[in-house]
Amino acid sequence: MIRDAACPEAIALAVDRLKAGELVAIPTETVYGLAADASQDSAIAKIYARKARPDTNPLIVHIASASQLSDWASHIPASAYQLAAAFWPGPMTLILAKASGVSTRLTAGQETIGLRIPAHSATLALLQAFGGGLAAPSANLFTQLSPTTAKHVEQALGDDLLILDGGPAQIGIESTIIDCSTDQITILRPGMLSAAAISAVLGRTIPYSLTAELKRPGQHWLHYAPRTPLYVMNLNALKEALTDASNVAVIAYSKEAWALSCAKLWSLSPEPDAYARELYAALHALDAEHFQCILVESPPLSDAWHAVHERLHKAAGSTPSYK
Ligand code: TXA
Ligand code: MG
Repeated sequence: MIRDAACPEAIALAVDRLKAGELVAIPTETVYGLAADASQDSAIAKIYARKARPDTNPLIVHIASASQLSDWASHIPASAYQLAAAFWPGPMTLILAKASGVSTRLTAGQETIGLRIPAHSATLALLQAFGGGLAAPSANLFTQLSPTTAKHVEQALGDDLLILDGGPAQIGIESTIIDCSTDQITILRPGMLSAAAISAVLGRTIPYSLTAELKRPGQHWLHYAPRTPLYVMNLNALKEALTDASNVAVIAYSKEAWALSCAKLWSLSPEPDAYARELYAALHALDAEHFQCILVESPPLSDAWHAVHERLHKAAGSTPSYK
């Protein structure tokens, strides 16, 4: 059941359902989330069940204001407040030591918790009206593509769920996750909020975590994956791969790729923000057409493209090279 998120009645209905321990899909600027009242263990359990997600994978709690941080986290360092002031509401999740009363159902048994203020006016209005925190992973089935539209959510999770339609997600890939729970601040998941921007605010270089897979429990190799096999390669390799292939779709960003002959050519922007915004919609659409495979022209390797590369790598899963 898709409802316009800009409509106050839809927000009121969502608040009622969430208070009653039901799930509601919510728009955010990154991807759509599958939300439940973070203070109700039985509601949290419904998220795991609905997504078929292993309960070893912790959830992010969404809040309306940084003043709520201390409801969920303890030992909040000054750097966390600096990042919050600079980037919230926005595509950033902070990992902090959890407050003592916070349920370990949310944190998958860990002593840390992920927190985020999303930058979407309807969801901020919902969070304000709701008052508490909303646990929300991406609103897709476990290991499948994240949704960037209300329709994507409906296709993945069914139409009995209340889905607030806030339009296509403006960032398009999941938030940057920053671990502030130790003195060595690291980036656990790259996102469109870049390492350079984070480092500039903190006045020192913040690295990507080398142990992100360990610190981000439940991360699976096959994450964000379309069902169609996907391969990332440079333009020359792509041309070669297409010479003896049929029924192959291509996602490309360069003008040179326009001349390729393939079953379907999907052009994305040569600019990383616009590319990221449209990437999941392209993968959802191509995946529905049952091509033999999807070949993706490898984007540039600069830092601005880091998060896009990480998602493409994940979408390629255990099949990183073609043939
Ligand atoms: O942009 C986003 O972050 C979206 C929107 C809906 O807010 N949410 C999202 O949630 O991507 P999810 O559950 O699909 O991904 C959250 C990631 C998971 O990989 C999880 O392991 C990690 O965050 N995570 C959550 N809590 C954590 C914690 N306490 N320590 C380390 N990693 C954590
Ligand atoms: Mg997810």
